Amino acid sequence: MTSSSPVPSLAARVAAVGGSPVRDILAVTERPEVVNFAGGLPAPELFDTEGIAAAYRDVFAELPGRALQYATTEGDPALRSALAARHTVRGLPTAADGLLVTTGSQQALSLLATALLEPGDTVLVEEPCYLAALQTFGFAGARIVAVPGDGDGVDPDALAELVVRERPKLFYTVPTFQNPTGRTLPAARRAAVASVAARHGVWIVEDDPYGELRFEGERVPWIATYPGAEDRTVLLGSLSKVMAPGMRLGWLRAPAALRRACAVAKQAADLHTPTVNQLAAARYLADRDLDAHVARVAVVYRERRDAMLAGLPDALPRGSTWSRPEGGMFLWVRLPEPYDTTALLPRVVEHDVAYVPGAPFHAGAPDRGTLRLCFVTQTPEEIGEGLRRLAKGLAGQPPGRG
Ligand SMILES: Cc1ncc(COP(=O)(O)O)c(C=O)c1O
Repeated sequence: MTSSSPVPSLAARVAAVGGSPVRDILAVTERPEVVNFAGGLPAPELFDTEGIAAAYRDVFAELPGRALQYATTEGDPALRSALAARHTVRGLPTAADGLLVTTGSQQALSLLATALLEPGDTVLVEEPCYLAALQTFGFAGARIVAVPGDGDGVDPDALAELVVRERPKLFYTVPTFQNPTGRTLPAARRAAVASVAARHGVWIVEDDPYGELRFEGERVPWIATYPGAEDRTVLLGSLSKVMAPGMRLGWLRAPAALRRACAVAKQAADLHTPTVNQLAAARYLADRDLDAHVARVAVVYRERRDAMLAGLPDALPRGSTWSRPEGGMFLWVRLPEPYDTTALLPRVVEHDVAYVPGAPFHAGAPDRGTLRLCFVTQTPEEIGEGLRRLAKGLAGQPPGRG
């Protein structure tokens, strides 16, 4: 028997955050013939499949009962200790119990939203901003305000002004090889951001999944290391881009009270991150040299970035500009007026190539001429072919801003 009463409606926040028409267009790009610059996928052929498989085998051979059992919410002690040591050698002294292991750094964002945000609270984000952070803060009912910046990242003076005017709970930033722009915030601006937070009382959420993927230039210290930031910065890390995203392993480093609140929120969300993945990662970090692996990946990613940089002048209309990231996975393009990359996407995709339009990354007024390209997933040859297709897709088009 079927019932005729309608089921209750979805929560208002679902409609408020909504889906994305771009997502539907990009679903088509799963076709194998498409050169997909839209995804944010690490190159799968560079995963250390052997090493990771060996770590899982060892864990199952030696600790099967523990690996398959429930575990503590805070995370496996050996993994926390190995991750903490990686912070300490990079200039941010960290104890194992100063970290909370999360199911990817994406979960850390949700936990922070739960622990810090009331509906209606204000969140400042850099402009443009990582899309899924905008969604997470949107689901929490936050009022999201964009902080302007330039090719070097967020403008600390604009940040200071907005912190005073908007009284936000937190400022969210990806200071190194940002998603979507690839840009990196210089040291002086990091110091200025720390000082703004110290003077005006705001949490800094420093999301750093890409920082280890540096191909050239000098590492810039985390914002968390600058004076004033110590007691008010949450640093998010992830093994997704340096080991494998399918393991879903991330972490957050936060002052004790906030870390404990996040642990309680995590308990409600998933009890704990899968034990077997944590033990395998801890085993990998103990037995292998992750830094050497990342160095090998960076060499290949650099060649791919260079292939993309070499092909862009011929692929893009005259007057276009683009970023030149020193690492990470993404490059940001601005087409001249009046190109609209959202309007152009369906017909570009007909040429079997895809990008992500820049508009959805904006919390403020979108810059409709922008787009994001991921340069790490394809070989240099495939990148060359993809850019030739992009040139055709853009050349046959009216610029089309409606
Ligand atoms: C800036 C940023 N933060 C967080 C994440 C989430 O990563 P994960 O949950 O795999 O650690 C991503 C993934 O693309 C990202 O680009």
